[in-house]
Amino acid sequence: MTGASRRIAVFGAGYIGLVTGACFAELGHRVVVRDIQPERIRLLNSGDVPFFEPGLGELIARNKERLAFTLDVQEAVADAEAVFVCVDTPPTASGDADLSRVWAVIDAVRRASHLVAVVVKSTVPVGTGARVRAALDERGLTHVGYASNPEFTAEGRAVDDFLHPDRVVIGTEDTAAAAWLADLYKPLDAPVELMDVASAEMVKLASNALLATRITFINEIATVCEATGADITRVSRAVGLDHRLGPHFLKAGLGYGGSCFPKDSRALRAMASNSGYPFQLLNAVIQVNELQPRRAVQRLKAELNGLKGRRIALLGMTFKPATDDMREAPSTVIAARLLAEGATVTCWDPMAPRTTADHAPWTSVTRHPDPLTALTDADAAILVTEWPELTELDWPTAARTMRTPLLLDGRNLLDPTPLLAAGFTHMSVGRPT
Ligand code: UGA
Repeated sequence: MTGASRRIAVFGAGYIGLVTGACFAELGHRVVVRDIQPERIRLLNSGDVPFFEPGLGELIARNKERLAFTLDVQEAVADAEAVFVCVDTPPTASGDADLSRVWAVIDAVRRASHLVAVVVKSTVPVGTGARVRAALDERGLTHVGYASNPEFTAEGRAVDDFLHPDRVVIGTEDTAAAAWLADLYKPLDAPVELMDVASAEMVKLASNALLATRITFINEIATVCEATGADITRVSRAVGLDHRLGPHFLKAGLGYGGSCFPKDSRALRAMASNSGYPFQLLNAVIQVNELQPRRAVQRLKAELNGLKGRRIALLGMTFKPATDDMREAPSTVIAARLLAEGATVTCWDPMAPRTTADHAPWTSVTRHPDPLTALTDADAAILVTEWPELTELDWPTAARTMRTPLLLDGRNLLDPTPLLAAGFTHMSVGRPT
């Protein structure tokens, strides 16, 4: 069975769906990706990718013989051996995951009795798989396997993460689905963790919550470093050398953002609370993370003796570099707080979508095509996203172009020594000023 070309339907042409579809095509399988957005399908069929993800466009182009994009459920499912559910599960007002798109897919495949498996990659609360299983059974699809197969790819390196995973998690009670999936992932040569559906669903939520906790923990240590004169970059490096802890996700900054950590940590908190357990640690993580970008604004306010009438430049807008994703970006909170304090805000970002300017607070922020013009006449700058362009910037010229050369390096990206030599007042996160 190994090496056989499989026929796969992927529902959802977002980050997870497109990366999944393109990577399975790269492994030699025939993939049809289905989405409900006509514009998205039109773009994909004309050779464009609807968002930036390094390497994805090339991968899609290279595998176009094996990859199709459609709005049509039947076209996607008719020939497929498995359906991968990769739709988004956005948070409701209470923080629970909205599963309506997952259920729409289950409804769409209700007659697909030829499938080996329905495989959910979308992040869902524990117990969703059991309910989907029951729904499949009610529709007479008792012989169609169900599997939870969470995805651990990070934006900006999703293709590489998918093709070189640390582990593949397969949660299923169905032996045929387990064998089919294990075979599908075999070429990736990664450990396969086979388990029950509920545990697989929990692995995804626990992994993201633990990573969010690590970031928040190090951000809190950084705050204590500021108060005590220790240097978080030295602390993080030495802490991370302990093999029991490891070096990753110990970078202090402006708080985690993006489409996953904020949403998934709130979903896990809501799920725990709905099941009768108030997840206190996670609750604290979420609250501390929400305060982190606000704290940066407070520090700047204290340094400048107030922000009213000040001109502040934000360097970077996206939630991290190598992506155009603005979802839950700390920059949005920072811009809103600065404006609320009466500051004038300018910004620069190489990739944030132009349409960002249509939404508050960005409607009131002037965006510039390069960092130096954003910095012109500024009273202070906040380095929000660690874009490599900012390491290369001519900082002595930046100092001359600013009204007062004050930089809050929110990602500890830059070496303070040359900045100080260029005349900057340098602030960062968790390091002595
Ligand atoms: C995250 C996980 O890393 C993936 O494993 C997971 O599959 C994905 O969520 C998901 O659930 O789909 P992603 O949100 O793309 O991926 O981005 P990360 O690179 O993990 O960064 C998340 C946030 O944490 C960013 O705002 C980043 O700036 C921040 N961060 C990260 C820190 O502040 N410090 C660190 O040391 C690391």
